[in-house]
Amino acid sequence: MGKSVLLIIGGGIAAYKSLELIRLLKTRGIGVRAIMTKAAAEFVTPLSVASLSGEKVHSALFNLTDEVEMGHIELSRSADLVVVVPATADLMAKMAQGLANDLASTTALATDKPVLIAPAMNVRMWQHAATQRNLATLETDGIHVVGPNEGDMACGEFGPGRMAEPVEILAAIEVLLASAPKPLAGRKILITAGPTREPIDPVRYISNHSSGKQGYALAEAAVRMGADVTLVSGPVSLPKPFGVKIIDVQTADEMLAACEKSLPADGAIFAAAVADWKVAHSAANKIKKQKSGEVPTLTFVENPDILKTIATGKMRPQIVVGFAAETEKVIEHAKAKLEKKSCDLIIANDVSEGVFGTNRNTVHLVGKSGVEDWPQLSKAEVANRIMAHLAGLLK
Ligand code: C5P
Repeated sequence: MGKSVLLIIGGGIAAYKSLELIRLLKTRGIGVRAIMTKAAAEFVTPLSVASLSGEKVHSALFNLTDEVEMGHIELSRSADLVVVVPATADLMAKMAQGLANDLASTTALATDKPVLIAPAMNVRMWQHAATQRNLATLETDGIHVVGPNEGDMACGEFGPGRMAEPVEILAAIEVLLASAPKPLAGRKILITAGPTREPIDPVRYISNHSSGKQGYALAEAAVRMGADVTLVSGPVSLPKPFGVKIIDVQTADEMLAACEKSLPADGAIFAAAVADWKVAHSAANKIKKQKSGEVPTLTFVENPDILKTIATGKMRPQIVVGFAAETEKVIEHAKAKLEKKSCDLIIANDVSEGVFGTNRNTVHLVGKSGVEDWPQLSKAEVANRIMAHLAGLLK
């Protein structure tokens, strides 16, 4: 039987995004029943929600017809997952306190299913001690939280409080609904992703074209397989994957420190494109333009090799996987890297044909016992297969 979610739509401007979420859920074959609070109906019409979900919309707690058709307790358990979108400050407060004075809060209290909330509110309301206290209580109670993001808000302010986008909420729902086997349950996995940024002065830096997409896809795949994932990420513009602990860093030195702090781990995958060099002495102030014809000279020093440091360190994870982005002699260079960096596996890819920033990748698995060539796949599928391979090695 197909999976289904019970959507509790709260009363906030972000309620309009619940319509897009319903549409996305339906395209995935996920059934949707919706409850709307009274305030929600001020922002989106029950008719829109009913039309998109193809189901009757529930709103009043004591509606005799509804109770005969499906009691509110039954409604709260009718789906595989309860999703509150948007979770307003008011709804979060009610849920944290266990209040049950309308259908939405009663259902959230009565359910025996996992609950996901997508908070959305003004930045001050989000940062208020009361909301943060309620958030902590809800997390302790085992409620899953997606977002909020930082950005422009409908009220004209900027900051955290903007509801996660429908695609991000969908991704979180898919993780929570996944009944796929969880071969990495109980395993701690460390992943690095993205470029590093090495400062020249306070306004300039040296970096590279890594988008972080492959590393982020690996983190998502690992979470789906049940792992406890820490992602050490250089500066990228990707949504934060659901259920992943992210440590944001800029430089290679910071990345190494964050990785060391994240040990012990059962497995580690180093997908970051770490800058090989940093400027020996980055200037404290912006370097001024010199006389015409004169240019500054930058002296570089080598950055730490994060992968090698961890792979040869005292707290080495059981399985260490590196990447090798090459433009020529791909396999040969990958084999050399396997030895030199003490890895168990190298994922080699030919980056001469525009891999950076795209959604596809052609990789070769170079291990101690041989080479496996994979066809061109999406980065998501490459990630699934790498994580399945890692799970096999960890057994
Ligand atoms: O030596 P090269 O940069 O080609 O090695 C690539 C692999 O080593 C990747 O897995 C990358 O994440 C890792 N690496 C690292 N620290 C560096 C350089 C590379 O972890 N300073």
